[in-house]
Amino acid sequence: MKFESPATTNPIDQLKIVGQSVSRIDGPLKTTGTAPYAYERHDVVANQAYGYVVGSAIAKGRIKSIDLGAAKAAPGVLAIVTADNAGKLDKGRLNTAKLLGGPEIQHYHQAIAVVVAETFEQARAAAQLIRVDYAAEQGAFDLASLLDKAKPNPITAGPADTAVGDFAANFAAAPVRLDARYSTPDEAHAMMEPHATIAAWEGDKLTLWTSNQMIAWNKAEMAKILGMRAENVRLDSPFVGGGFGGKLFPRADALLAALGARAAKRPVKVALQRPLMFNNTTHRPATIQRIRIGATRDGKITAIGHESWSGDLPGGKADGAVAQTRLLYAGAHRMTATRLATLDLPEGNAMRAPGEATGMMALEIAVDEMAEKLGMDPIEFRILNDTQVDPEKPERPFSQRQLTECFRTGAERFGWSKRNPQPGRVRDGRWLVGIGAAAAFRNNLLTKSAARVRLDNGGIVTVETDMTDIGTGSYTIIAQTAAEMMGVPLEKVKVRLGDSAFPVSAGSGGQWGGNNSTAGVYAACVKLREAVAQKLGFNSAEAEFADGEVRSGNRRVPLAQAAADGGLSAEDEIEYGDLAKKYQQSTFGAHFVEVGVDAATAEIRVRRMLAVCAAGRILNPKTARSQVIGAMTMGVGAALMEELVVDKRTGFFVNHDLAAYEVPVHADIPHQEMFFLDETDPMSSPMKAKGVAELGICGVAAAVANAVYNATGVRVRDYPITLDKLLEQMPDVG
Ligand code: MOS
Repeated sequence: MKFESPATTNPIDQLKIVGQSVSRIDGPLKTTGTAPYAYERHDVVANQAYGYVVGSAIAKGRIKSIDLGAAKAAPGVLAIVTADNAGKLDKGRLNTAKLLGGPEIQHYHQAIAVVVAETFEQARAAAQLIRVDYAAEQGAFDLASLLDKAKPNPITAGPADTAVGDFAANFAAAPVRLDARYSTPDEAHAMMEPHATIAAWEGDKLTLWTSNQMIAWNKAEMAKILGMRAENVRLDSPFVGGGFGGKLFPRADALLAALGARAAKRPVKVALQRPLMFNNTTHRPATIQRIRIGATRDGKITAIGHESWSGDLPGGKADGAVAQTRLLYAGAHRMTATRLATLDLPEGNAMRAPGEATGMMALEIAVDEMAEKLGMDPIEFRILNDTQVDPEKPERPFSQRQLTECFRTGAERFGWSKRNPQPGRVRDGRWLVGIGAAAAFRNNLLTKSAARVRLDNGGIVTVETDMTDIGTGSYTIIAQTAAEMMGVPLEKVKVRLGDSAFPVSAGSGGQWGGNNSTAGVYAACVKLREAVAQKLGFNSAEAEFADGEVRSGNRRVPLAQAAADGGLSAEDEIEYGDLAKKYQQSTFGAHFVEVGVDAATAEIRVRRMLAVCAAGRILNPKTARSQVIGAMTMGVGAALMEELVVDKRTGFFVNHDLAAYEVPVHADIPHQEMFFLDETDPMSSPMKAKGVAELGICGVAAAVANAVYNATGVRVRDYPITLDKLLEQMPDVG
């Protein structure tokens, strides 16, 4: 089905099942510990051996020699694979560094060997006996010292640089100006489930039971790396214990399980050991950002500029921190620029809302600072500079844009009017209390997605698509879509996901999964409805599918009857025309945060949070809310805790475990609320939905920073906002 004109009324609009707060259909599997995650799939193939990954102990240089002798002779060892004996491997397209390093080393903890043994303990013990002689070289590990050498680099959302009007002249001439520098640190996905894979060969066919967000990408990628035909690779990833962008690409577990299994001639399972995860896999790269805003005295932005620097391995990519500044606020004269420095740290790549997440951390503090310079309320300043058209291309309207409504609704619900605009004036016992707000913004991406739907003679509808559920609720919203379309209750729908044998979906990334994957299921259901109508002698344009029946005029036939002689199935794909070119499709929100800052120690506690979001039709308010409050929590982590600490002498992230890489726990998040505005977006798909899962993190950290400023009068521009950055300037509260 080609979606090329705005959606009109369709069966989804009944909202009997779609749009309802249905509990996850996979909830019982998850809560009883019976959802099969990759490493636990003991029953998919017999005789599984264990692989243990060895990571490089240097960040840059060469392996001079590896002594495997003692390890090979250790009890239970079946095989050891290194770059020396792995055969020819392609680098692949999706990752910047090789998944199996050596003799050249590109980053610390790059995998250099996998030891395969009968048991995990034997593999681990043998791995300690490998002796590696390195020739280390000095690498580049300090972004701040390399800004002058950084080069323009395009971002996912467009070119490296954009320019409209004459920014320099109009910024210089503006009566009120802000010019400030912000920084965000390297961050880790820190998902619960590590990257894990079981690999088995049958002749030249490879099966990978793995944990992955994008099945089709990774099937093609594994085939490319291994020099195989794609049809000989199968991936199966029905449950993913968190990805956040870290599982968009295959990582060392998948390759080393495949190579280990080939060498040991039996199935092999590999999970990346937790202490290896932080330096072996990808992370969100650190940024340094400069923001300049010029405005008239009454608060109209006349010039806005955003430059961002990040670093990556040679051939890597830049963080897209400037992306939202191209779209969020009006202003006739504008510029953005993205610069990439070469670093020898582990590979930077996508992490939840890549680009906007870091960009909003800086931009939304800058906006708060600018409002203060203007003597304006920061929400009124944002509303004054709201726009209904793409500020870089005014002929393109937004498909839907309720940023102002998000702020108005949120301000009312949160009690914004009680905020004291004078910082450091509100006291609650030992706490200085402050309130802050920030906009949320993330684009809505359209990408084709296919599904197959089958009706059996018991009236059961089975959906198959290689879509993944990374904890987001895909199983549930897909079941709701098929139930609504086929007129059956939810219990009559079975959903099978994550297998590369199924039709290719949008996959889970960039908050595009929900809208696109359900639109693909919609397309397949439209075809199945036609097949059913034809089989039962109905005119498909008139037939109504409801309560397990097909109806037209006064004729009603049970749906299952269409499958009486063996079952009907249909497959289709949603494909998009140019609605995303003609209309800018984005999602919007407003974040509100109240913090308390200990007047003596500067300890920061979040007291309450609210997000108001406008993101098209919400397919399931319960699962969507879970996504947003999870993202808000991650935003608090980014604001106050998360930082991969770089050892700038030897080039690795020091805090490479879940004890030292801090993320919020329940006690850090006392009170969260979120609210969706009513919205349907006919430009996005027949579902009229958009993404929410990345929107929810965008802006949160800045709202926390702005609240800390309101509480204390101390402006911290370098994340995370830890108490050492506040202490010296804390107000004297004697
Ligand atoms: Mo997302 S960072 O595209 O999984």
